[in-house]
Amino acid sequence: MRILSITSGKGGVGKTNLAANLGIALSQQGSRVVMFDADLGLANLDVVLGTGADFSLHHAIDGNLSLADVIAAGPAGTRFLSGGAGLSKLINISRKRLQNFLLELAQLDKSTDYLIFDTGAGVDAKVMTFLKAADDVILVVTPEPASVADAYATIKVLLRSKKNAHIQILMNQVEHERQAEAVYRKLNDIAGHFLNADLSYIGSVRCDSEILPWIRARQPFLLADPRLKASKDVIGVAQRIQVNRNVYDVSETIVHRLEFAFGITSPTEDLATEAKAA
Ligand SMILES: Nc1ncnc2c1ncn2[C@@H]1O[C@H](COP(=O)(O)OP(=O)(O)O)[C@@H](O)[C@H]1O
Ligand SMILES: [Mg+2]
Repeated sequence: MRILSITSGKGGVGKTNLAANLGIALSQQGSRVVMFDADLGLANLDVVLGTGADFSLHHAIDGNLSLADVIAAGPAGTRFLSGGAGLSKLINISRKRLQNFLLELAQLDKSTDYLIFDTGAGVDAKVMTFLKAADDVILVVTPEPASVADAYATIKVLLRSKKNAHIQILMNQVEHERQAEAVYRKLNDIAGHFLNADLSYIGSVRCDSEILPWIRARQPFLLADPRLKASKDVIGVAQRIQVNRNVYDVSETIVHRLEFAFGITSPTEDLATEAKAA
């Protein structure tokens, strides 16, 4: 299982729509996909997917349900996990329960090729948690200067807490590929010079007004009309994601990575702390 975190510095650049449609494209290309709404601010992945979920994360944290029970069926064979109020709880639950939850999350490995986090924008600690958990951080950037500047801030903060983070730039709302590559190169030059970062480029999605009626109708545009410019571009990006996929990842690696991201260092140390507290 590869964990992809779709994020951006600036809000409203297209993260959720790209997460949803990329998830669908990956599924159509034969991968098993779980999408996880990890945006504490504006959790609307369910709306963009056009699916409701009976349960959300907090049923798996508070209730008696397992993680598998709260994962809903999404379009085109995808699966979907709504974060909802459970996300903020996740930050505050006891270490033991958090560890249990992360263990369950890691067990998705058996049934999943891609776990996709749709995160919030910005650089707060909650967003960083999901970026640190990812194999690949897909940073959505538009040609707008504010989006580029905020992307730089995300890169800076992420590399401070995870030096070896893999960051892939996904340009959105571009006029054409040339523009996308020019913006990527500029960002990569600056990040290379000041942060010693090496950003990958995963492609671009054109600005396409024809997707807007589908977004309003709560239908993923790729399913509604695969011939749209934006749909074709998303299919191309999904193909690149598949091609770039590395081969490693045993379940233990995933658990360790999740534990690192969520600030758990050593399980044995935790048990000792809990024994003391009891
Ligand atoms: N490729 C695109 N072409 C045209 N409009 C887009 C494109 N991508 C995103 N948008 C616009 O941006 C809006 C916000 O998208 P959304 O996925 O909700 O962003 P985020 O999750 O980053 O806040 C969409 O409702 C749509 O109006
Ligand atoms: Mg969003």
